[in-house]
Amino acid sequence: MRIIETIAEMQSLSGAARDAGEIVVFVPTMGYLHEGHASLLREGRKRGDLLVLSIFVNPTQFGAGEDFDSYPRDLERDRQLAADAGADIIFTPRASEMYPAGFQTYVDVERLTLPLCGRSRPGHFRGVTTVVCKLINIVMPHAALFGKKDYQQLAVIRRMVNDLNMNVEIVGMPIVREADGLAMSSRNAYLSTEERRSALCLIRAISAARDAFRNGERSVAALRDRVLKIVSAEPFASIDYTEFCHKDTLEGVARADDTTLLALAVKIGKTRLIDNTILGEE
Ligand code: PAF
Repeated sequence: MRIIETIAEMQSLSGAARDAGEIVVFVPTMGYLHEGHASLLREGRKRGDLLVLSIFVNPTQFGAGEDFDSYPRDLERDRQLAADAGADIIFTPRASEMYPAGFQTYVDVERLTLPLCGRSRPGHFRGVTTVVCKLINIVMPHAALFGKKDYQQLAVIRRMVNDLNMNVEIVGMPIVREADGLAMSSRNAYLSTEERRSALCLIRAISAARDAFRNGERSVAALRDRVLKIVSAEPFASIDYTEFCHKDTLEGVARADDTTLLALAVKIGKTRLIDNTILGEE
């Protein structure tokens, strides 16, 4: 496995692989890898000849007062996990090369970025789409894999790729959970023991809404009530949003059906966690 730090070298390696008829597969990340990232890499390994992982904590997707400076970073640990999961290349560009002086071009997906995380993190998705577009131009993959935990991110990236006619397949991969149901996230590392216990309210709330839906409840007001009751009972938890919306448009709905996405963002202490489910899916 090679570590590549410059854009020119990454582009030249990917270009050579493509010229040789190889399939290039890409897993973009901000590092501090966990089993969720490993599942993307393992799937990528099956799909391609050259498997590229990027690790770049992207400054443009963090707002003022967010955790850019404290975001966990550990390249040694990441290198081991990436090698075990079969990556060929780790691409770790410097921020000064990704965003040199004079940088002024951004990609903005308009409507899909308005609700959910877009509402509580203004500018976040503009940073995500810009960096993902740049990374795709650099790595030139045939396919790129993203986890469904960041459901809105995946929808926004699909929209961008479609709208800008980018020649890459976007693959969405299932949420990977800890044994007790907590969705894996690099930010779980921030949680104290008590907060870690509290964080289970997300999966408990999601399970309760799913159970109610399975038993015939279709009123979003009633489903939301169940979610709020569970989360607000937790001492460290404060709700950022509980949204029931259409899984494709992300527009809010009043009655739930098989196409309804329940998306949650909850602060546990200072750590903001997200999770989601499509009510009609197994
Ligand atoms: O999901 C992430 O880790 C990031 O948002 C991404 C897609 C790597 C862009 O920085």
